[in-house]
Amino acid sequence: MIDPHDRRMEITVLDPHLPATEVVVRTVRPADADALTRLYQALSPESRRRRFLGTASFGSDAARRCCAPDHRHSEGFVAEVRGGPRDGALVGHLELEETDDGAIELAIAVADRYQHRGIGRQLVAAGLVWARAHHIGRITATAFADNAALLGLLRRELPTLRVRDLMDGTVEMDGTVEVETDDLP
Ligand SMILES: CC(C)(COP(=O)(O)OP(=O)(O)OC[C@H]1O[C@@H](n2cnc3c(N)ncnc32)[C@H](O)[C@@H]1OP(=O)(O)O)[C@@H](O)C(=O)NCCC(=O)NCCS
Repeated sequence: MIDPHDRRMEITVLDPHLPATEVVVRTVRPADADALTRLYQALSPESRRRRFLGTASFGSDAARRCCAPDHRHSEGFVAEVRGGPRDGALVGHLELEETDDGAIELAIAVADRYQHRGIGRQLVAAGLVWARAHHIGRITATAFADNAALLGLLRRELPTLRVRDLMDGTVEMDGTVEVETDDLP
């Protein structure tokens, strides 16, 4: 089923043996749990280390939890391949979870072969649309201090982003969700 709110994007994958592939960013569904587990299992050790800050693994319980957000205090978006030999594979995931102080914490991963193609940006853009619709004023994320990809991505999407050094090799990023001019009465 095609959701009218799906954000569609065309990308060309790095693998020259695969045809140009369409990737769609959409809200996560319970039926995505197995595909999401496969996405995380296939991440390179370095991407997994950056996503989970070195520690946690991602099993089927975590996948089921991520695929059943309550859409109010938690949400998820996935990037799904449409067409070609990898039709239906998930190649990106954005997790959004409300924190105790009313902000939304963001965590994100894009499959290694699909990085640097704008998928991370599309996922974050989808998350920001959701945050605005739910009147969420702040987005936070924690990452290794040398995570140039996430820092670059969030700096561009959240111009007010502040970065606080947690002195343990990680930084906490915190940005205001700007109201779009279109949202104003
Ligand atoms: C962070 C991550 C999700 C970015 O996804 P992506 O799909 O590669 O990002 P995009 O292609 O949308 O890039 C968007 C912007 O991010 C920045 N960016 C991406 N990769 C970058 C890199 N290696 N160095 C510097 N900036 C980078 C750029 O500003 C880029 O803008 P540009 O297109 O003008 O260059 C991806 O690198 C990833 O999955 N990393 C492993 C997991 C992780 O680190 N998660 C964050 C902690 S929760």
